[in-house]
Amino acid sequence: MSEVTLFDKTFEPYLPESLIQEKIKELALQINKDYAGKKPLFIAILNGSFMFAADLFKSISLEAEICFIKLASYKGSKSTGNVVTSIGLDADLNQRHIIVLEDIIDTGKTLHEFLPQLTNQNPSSLKIAVLLHKPDATVYPIKIDYCCFSIPNRFVLGYGLDYDGYGRNLKEIYQLKGSE
Ligand code: IMP
Ligand code: MG
Repeated sequence: MSEVTLFDKTFEPYLPESLIQEKIKELALQINKDYAGKKPLFIAILNGSFMFAADLFKSISLEAEICFIKLASYKGSKSTGNVVTSIGLDADLNQRHIIVLEDIIDTGKTLHEFLPQLTNQNPSSLKIAVLLHKPDATVYPIKIDYCCFSIPNRFVLGYGLDYDGYGRNLKEIYQLKGSE
């Protein structure tokens, strides 16, 4: 793995492909155990989670469904604050076991604002699985049920995560060079 430069920034290798794949397989095994006999519905949040979702789902041996949604955040009225809407959520969540797949939890704001829209639909259970979590950056309370990597508060790139739209195709995860 060598450095990657995008626009004005240079990124250095951080998590190798083999380690990412290993952690995702472990997570899939755990989910296979925890959901034995159930038919969970995975909800993957685009764009960032597409690689994580694809690799994880390949190792799921349950009878499971997956759907992909996109979240859009906009400013509502003063009283409603930010409003997060979802695009593509056409599945019926009533009485389903839901597992939300997200690339990274940073401040936690996006999921914190969006999750009530899922719980409102009366699922049997709702769990969160993330590839990366930055605990030092997280200010909105979120219960993370499954996490592959807990990482320091540094900008990361690759394996679905982007810098200004680029870098998602990298097989490994990089971190911003020189950041502490
Ligand atoms: P949150 O609402 O602050 O938790 O932000 C979550 C979203 O911000 C993620 O789904 C990513 O799209 C983006 N994000 C947060 N940290 C990073 C990073 O280090 N690299 C790339 N994208 C990030
Ligand atoms: Mg994302």
